Amino acid sequence: MATSILITGGAGFIGSHLTRLFVTKYPDYNIVNLDKLTYAGNLENLKDVEDSPNYTFVKGDITDLQLLKELFETHRFTGILHCAAESHVDRSITDPLSFVTTNVVGTASLLQTAKECWKNDLEGKLFYHISTDEVYGSLGETGYFTEETPYDPRSPYSASKASSDHLARAFFHTYHLPVKISNCSNNYGPFHFPEKLIPLCIHNIINNKPLPIYGKGENIRDWLYVEDHVRAIDLIYHEGKIGETYNIGGHNEWTNIDLVKELCRQMDTKLGREAGESEKQITYVKDRAGHDLRYAIDASKLKDELGWLPSLQFEEGISKTIDWYLNNTEWLNHVTSGNYQHYYEQQYHKR
Ligand code: NAD
Ligand code: TYD
Repeated sequence: MATSILITGGAGFIGSHLTRLFVTKYPDYNIVNLDKLTYAGNLENLKDVEDSPNYTFVKGDITDLQLLKELFETHRFTGILHCAAESHVDRSITDPLSFVTTNVVGTASLLQTAKECWKNDLEGKLFYHISTDEVYGSLGETGYFTEETPYDPRSPYSASKASSDHLARAFFHTYHLPVKISNCSNNYGPFHFPEKLIPLCIHNIINNKPLPIYGKGENIRDWLYVEDHVRAIDLIYHEGKIGETYNIGGHNEWTNIDLVKELCRQMDTKLGREAGESEKQITYVKDRAGHDLRYAIDASKLKDELGWLPSLQFEEGISKTIDWYLNNTEWLNHVTSGNYQHYYEQQYHKR
C-alpha cells in the first residue's frame, strides 16, 4: 500500500516545517496539504517545496465534510497529520467560537471522515493529532506536565484543543481508529507569525517599536525549536505506539521578561547597536485575561521509548531564529502588510 498522507494546516508555522520535512525526507510518500489559508496560513512558507512531484496543495476547510470525503477518495490516504487549528490564545479570548468551529468541529469532521473512509480496513492507517501542553492548565512554581496530568484547560484556545484531544481518544476507544497524540510546549523558529511573543519582539526590535510585556513578565514558558518538534512528530508517527500520547518539550523554561531581554541582548549585537539599546523598548502592558502562570513539560516518555532529545540549546536556537528574520525581511514585510495573502492568487492562478 503506497503511503499517502494528508497534512492539515501545512501552510502555518509548525505545519510548514512538518510538510517540508515529510516532502523532502520521504520522496515516495504522496503528501497533500489541506489549508484554509487564514491570516496564519502562508504559502510563501513552502515556496521551496511547492513544485515537488510528491506534493499537492488544496485550499479548503477541515470542517467541509464533502471536500474531506473527495480528498480521501482521490488520494486514498493512509495517514493524517492533523495540524490545522486556530492557535493564538489572545484571539481565542476575543473570538472563542471560531476556535470551537475549527479546533473541535474541524477535528471531529476529520475523525469521522477517516472512520467512514477507512471502515474496517485499519491496517497501516494512522490519525496523528497534534496538540499542545496548554490542555494541562497552569503549573505553580514547581512540577511538570506528564502524560498522566489531568486536563485543566483555562483559555478558550486550550479548552478547544482539549476537546479535540478527547475526541481523538474517543474515536480510538470507541471505533478502534488508530490514533496517536502529542502535546508540545511553546515552539519558536522561522516562519512564526509575528503576533506571537518571539517573532513580535524580533519585528518590533528591528523597527524600534515597543516590546509589550503582559503583566509583570513573570509568566514562564518552556520553549522548543520548531525543527526539534517536527523531528519528534516524525519519530512518533513512524515508531510511536497506537493509542498513546507523547509529551514533547524543550526542558527550557524562561520567564517572558528574561526571554525578551535575551532577544534584546542578541539583537543589539547583531544590529550593531549599543548594549542595552533595545531593552529600552520594553513596555509593561495590561495582563492577558486568565493568563496561565507556567508551562513545563516532562518529555521523559519520549526520550525513554523513542530516544528523542532536543538538539538545540536555546541561545543557539534564538540566534538562528533572529538571523532568519533578519535575512528574510521580504517575508516579514509581506506578513506584516498582509501582502502574503495575494500570493495564493498569483501562484495558483498562473497555473
Ligand atoms: P498556526 O496558527 O501558525 O497555523 C495554523 C494553520 O491552520 C494555518 O495555516 C491556517 O491557515 C490553518 N487553518 C486554520 N483553520 C483552518 C481550517 N478551518 N481548515 C483548514 N486549515 C485551517 O499554528 P501553529 O502554531 O503552526 O500550530 C499548529 C498546531 O500545533 C496547532 O494544532 C497547535 O494547537 C499546535 N501547537 C502549537 C504550538 C506553538 O507553540 N505554536 C505548540 C504546541 C502545539
Ligand atoms: P504566546 O506567544 O502568545 O504563546 P502562548 O500564549 O500560547 O504561551 O505568548 C507567550 C507568552 O508571552 C505568554 O505568557 C503571553 C506573553 N506575551 C506577552 O507578554 N506579550 C505579547 O505581546 C504576547 C503576544 C505574549
